[in-house]
Amino acid sequence: MESKLQRRGLRTARSALGLCCLLLLIACSRGAATESSAVLSFLRDGQLVRQLHREQLGTPRLTEAWDPYYNKNKTFLAVPLSPVLKSGFAGLELAGQEILLRAKDGYTVPLPADRLLEPGAYLALADRSSAMEEWEPIGPQRADPRPFYLFWTGADQRSLETHPRPWQLVAVELLRFEQRFPHVLPTGMPSEDRAWRGLRVFADLCIRCHAINREGGRVGPDLNVPQSIVEYRPVEKIRQYIVDPRRFRYGNMPAHPQLSKDDLDALLAYFFAMKTRKFDPDSTQDTP
Ligand code: HEC
Repeated sequence: MESKLQRRGLRTARSALGLCCLLLLIACSRGAATESSAVLSFLRDGQLVRQLHREQLGTPRLTEAWDPYYNKNKTFLAVPLSPVLKSGFAGLELAGQEILLRAKDGYTVPLPADRLLEPGAYLALADRSSAMEEWEPIGPQRADPRPFYLFWTGADQRSLETHPRPWQLVAVELLRFEQRFPHVLPTGMPSEDRAWRGLRVFADLCIRCHAINREGGRVGPDLNVPQSIVEYRPVEKIRQYIVDPRRFRYGNMPAHPQLSKDDLDALLAYFFAMKTRKFDPDSTQDTP
């Protein structure tokens, strides 16, 4: 009886030990997973062409620059972006093409490849601004910037509009704008129509968060389907909203005080053109 109890005690101890080992194993593999997820994927028109692990991105150097998100100087362990793009897209022509920068959460920024090839574009691999050597959370949502954060060092590269800084960068995709966003174009409009200029503004400033016809970012609402913004909001309110959304809501859309009356006219012309060019693969009902 006694020995049976002892044995059972032993068995419990053993299984407890086993459980500990298992938990430890899970913890370790979790750690390993985060390490190995520091990979940058390179895609060409939706096809994976290459993946570079953190160690393959080049020899990182301490790089200091003023940062508009942190609003102070930051020091990162970083590699210049241009050689990274050239090795990731080895052999592919980059000049004149469009590149999509994709973050882990789906945030996508399209940028001309030429801009990303500018000297001054860097990929941060680690935050070295404090003795802690830990990433300082970034942005209004205090996000963890890992695995990669794109930043710029030039004094003329500080504007987030022309030189966006996506964090949690996981993939870089090379493609022509028309290929990526075929239903975002005001197809059929005469080439001198303002709607085309509106598209340019939209592509530069808005598409990273907003879709048109389900193509584009998902941070904000689709502005064309099921209903176009110009179908349910007065034009004057749309203009005001774009310039200063906080007059209406405490939301997550940034203000655009830099847009001229011409830019806003062009954007509106673009929305009106798209209203009659709806395409909605997600729709369950026929368009009215
Ligand atoms: C960083 C992401 C982001 C960017 C960039 C952005 N928006 Fe928004 N936008 C949002 C979000 C999120 C909302 C939802 C309401 C809110 O949070 O303010 C929104 C709402 C809107 C609305 C109101 C929609 C409605 O039905 O009430 C309009 C219009 C709009 N955005 C237009 C634009 C235009 C035009 C641009 C470019 C000049 C732009 N946005 C750039 C995130 C963004």
